[in-house]
Amino acid sequence: MRHTVTLIPGDGIGPEVAHAARAIIDASGAAIQWEEVNAPSEAERRHGEFLHARLVESVRRNRVALKGPIATPIATGPPSINVGLRKALELYANLRPVKNLPGVKSRYEGVDLVIVRENTEDLYSGLEHTVVPGVVESLKIITEKASTRIARFAFEYARKQGRRQVAAIHKANIMKLSDGLFLTSVRKVAADYPEIRYREVIVDNACMQLVLDPTQFEVLLLPNLYGDVVSDLAAGLVGGLGVVGSANLGDDVAVFEAVHGTAPDIAGKGIANPTALLLSGILMLEYLGEVEAARRIEQALHAVYRQGQCLTPDVGGSASTMEFAHAVIAAMS
Ligand code: NAI
Repeated sequence: MRHTVTLIPGDGIGPEVAHAARAIIDASGAAIQWEEVNAPSEAERRHGEFLHARLVESVRRNRVALKGPIATPIATGPPSINVGLRKALELYANLRPVKNLPGVKSRYEGVDLVIVRENTEDLYSGLEHTVVPGVVESLKIITEKASTRIARFAFEYARKQGRRQVAAIHKANIMKLSDGLFLTSVRKVAADYPEIRYREVIVDNACMQLVLDPTQFEVLLLPNLYGDVVSDLAAGLVGGLGVVGSANLGDDVAVFEAVHGTAPDIAGKGIANPTALLLSGILMLEYLGEVEAARRIEQALHAVYRQGQCLTPDVGGSASTMEFAHAVIAAMS
């Protein structure tokens, strides 16, 4: 059976890494057919076009998308399309496996953890207003429903993957009601998984513990904002944003995307590293049941990194995006 996947190239380096990842996935023998749909252009966004209905409709119909990064203006302008897409499609779980890639220099070895981030609420609800000039209020929304749902997702994932520990990350010592509700919801779910060790770690301590010894963690379960911050910290433990993939999952729709942004400093130069989007593509192939193709790409990717001859500048090489992609394709044959 051929799977139709919506391909959203995105902004900045997005089209460069999306087309490189697509070429590699096509060469892997996976039965994928692509439906390429663009997000609104910057000009359209300035005129109030936020999320194209045809973009959301395409992902809903195909149930799976591979997405490049999309720019969001800082401190002004329309809301984030990325956040809008996650909300419109009810993609409540963000999953980011963080693992060393052979040959990629990093400060730590043996890192193999997974971040599970709640994706729909918290301070990302976008509910902000000016109370009086000079004073703004930003609402942090935490619900029992969303906290229980993400906790169930994390423990089920841990059980299926044979992981032995889940750590809930919080700041309930200060935000006693909101993070407190998150924790009490997670505790109730944790009780159904006695074989999995359950820990609670305050977010600032969790950051220090990750930097001291990341191998002490297996699955980290976080509300939205801490999840966003800590997942970039975790990417830094294994070589940076260019080498970590991610999935946004709902009950029957999934959007796979890299954790990095549009990298305006290198956009258009043809030197972006497509590895992160490719790792997201591997997660996508696993999700679609194309496990053989996923393993072929993974082995070829590891071989190219181990050889170290054809890497992009961010990981110490001098190859272009497409030279790297062709090296991975060559390593598959
Ligand atoms: P960024 O991830 O775009 O860039 C940070 C640094 O990492 C830059 O030096 C960049 O060159 C480098 N980098 C990132 N991806 C790379 C790759 N694949 N290969 C080589 N180097 C890479 O983060 P920044 O500058 O904070 O954000 C830029 C824009 O991206 C913003 O508009 C932001 O809102 C958006 N963004 C979108 C995301 C998404 O669509 N999911 C996620 C994060 C940011």
